[in-house]
Amino acid sequence: MKKITTIKDMKAVVRELKSGGKTIGFVPTMGYLHGGHLSLVRKSIQNADATVVSIFVNPAQFGPQEDFKEYPRDFNRDMELLKKEGVDYVFFPDSVEMYPQGYKTYVQVQDLEEKLCGHSRPGHFKGVCTIVLKLFNIIDPDVAFFGQKDAQQAVILRKMVEDLDLDVIIKVLPIIRDEDGLALSSRNEYLNSREREAALTLHRSLQEAKKMIEAGERRAGNIIKRIEEMMRQEPLARIDYIEIVDLDELKPVERIEDETLLALAVFVDKTRIIDNMMVEINEEGVRFKE
Ligand code: PAJ
Repeated sequence: MKKITTIKDMKAVVRELKSGGKTIGFVPTMGYLHGGHLSLVRKSIQNADATVVSIFVNPAQFGPQEDFKEYPRDFNRDMELLKKEGVDYVFFPDSVEMYPQGYKTYVQVQDLEEKLCGHSRPGHFKGVCTIVLKLFNIIDPDVAFFGQKDAQQAVILRKMVEDLDLDVIIKVLPIIRDEDGLALSSRNEYLNSREREAALTLHRSLQEAKKMIEAGERRAGNIIKRIEEMMRQEPLARIDYIEIVDLDELKPVERIEDETLLALAVFVDKTRIIDNMMVEINEEGVRFKE
């Protein structure tokens, strides 16, 4: 496994791979890797000739009051994990490499970036789109892998790829959870055991919503109300949003039909936790992606 820290070296490797006719699978991350990241890595290794994983805690996607400085980092541990998986290249640039002095260009996917997490994280998706487009330009992947854990991010990046005519296939893979149901996240590191218990309310309320939908409930308002009730019983949890939206515009829907996304964000003390479930309804019945 090769560690690459400069754009120039990364582009040289990509050129060599392409000239040898190799396909490139790409997994962008901010490091502090867990089973969620590794599920994407494994899929890439299965699907592409060469796999590139990037590790870059992207300052542009953190707000001024957010946790850029505290965000957990452990590069050596990440390298060990990726080596074990059989990754070919790790791209590990520093901030000056990605945003040299005088950097001025940003990419925005209008409207979608303001929905859901956009309310409490203004500018976040602009930072995500900018870095992902830069990484796509550097690595020129055939396929890039993302997690449904960040469902809005996946919707926005798909739109960016479509609108900017990028030749990359975006694959979105299921949420990987701990045994207790908590979706894996590098930020879970911030939670003490009592807070972790509170964070479980997200998964529990999604399970409750699933039961209601299975029992025939289709009114979004009723499901949201029930989730709100459950959340309010947990004193450590402060609701950021509970929304049921369509997958194209991320606009609230009144009824659950076709493909909808039930997305939650909750503050447990200062840690913001997100989770979601996708519901697909067609002639064959109801299908959940959680
Ligand atoms: P990061 O939070 O490190 O996540 C990297 C990828 O792992 C994302 O596609 C995310 O959705 C996926 N992921 C995280 N937790 C997961 C889980 N429990 N199950 C499945 N997949 C999971 O998302 C980012 O970094 C950044 O915004 C990035 C795209 C790298 C741009 O900076």
